[in-house]
Amino acid sequence: MKKKLVFITGAGMSAESGIRTFRDSNGLWEEYPVMKVASIQGYHEDPELVIRFYNDRRRQLLECEPNEGHRLVAALENDYDVTVVTQNVDNLHERAGSTNVIHLHGELMKATSSDNPNDPNCIVEIPSDNPGIHIGDKANDGSQLRPFIVWFGEAVPKIEPAIIEVSQADIVVIIGTSLNVYPAAGLINYANNDAKMYLIDPKPVKTSSLRDIHVIQKGASEGMKELTELLKTSNTPQ
Ligand code: APR
Repeated sequence: MKKKLVFITGAGMSAESGIRTFRDSNGLWEEYPVMKVASIQGYHEDPELVIRFYNDRRRQLLECEPNEGHRLVAALENDYDVTVVTQNVDNLHERAGSTNVIHLHGELMKATSSDNPNDPNCIVEIPSDNPGIHIGDKANDGSQLRPFIVWFGEAVPKIEPAIIEVSQADIVVIIGTSLNVYPAAGLINYANNDAKMYLIDPKPVKTSSLRDIHVIQKGASEGMKELTELLKTSNTPQ
């Protein structure tokens, strides 16, 4: 029986693929007013601005590739029952080979209904050869097509399944998140007492958890190389 390994990843996981983080220096939220481009209120006030913002991010994503960190996360599926819980809206975990990914904040390569954003009948793939959404494009329920993103001010429907995954994990690995945004940041508190916890980030990260967390103060790729070695030694039968 494979041990259950759950990753909780954030923007830093994709930084080495060339995708900007949000709160680092030169982060996305330094350039864009977050509540204007990433909140439900901002979308209602100026849907065209928001649709354009995500069109730009989608076009940038299409020029990016998964990094070594994504690939090493996917490779651990050979030895572990892996779930990736990500705050990222990019598809780099999947493109690196991860087969069990929960996107807490939505998916950039999908679009949905403005009236019923979580109706599965309205969630559609955006083709990479035509990655733009425009005012006037209609969802399956006839409302304006919008990015399939969970904006500030909206519920996070995937948090419940994510909590279940974390609570059942033997190992929890946090990579590339400042743990600033709830409910995602609160996930680490659901790790059971026997779970081994690791955190990979080049900078120190404040965690609300009182747990003993093994910190690897490196970037995602170098950190995942170190973690893979650590897991190999800890997993070999004594
Ligand atoms: N490897 C690993 N971690 C890195 C790297 C790297 N190469 N570069 C930066 N980091 C770390 C930073 O030190 C920081 O801790 O990634 C983290 C990025 O933090 P944020 O920019 O706050 O991103 P994140 O935590 O994912 O934000 C959460 O906020 O605005 C919302 O919806 C948005 O999902 C996002 C959420």
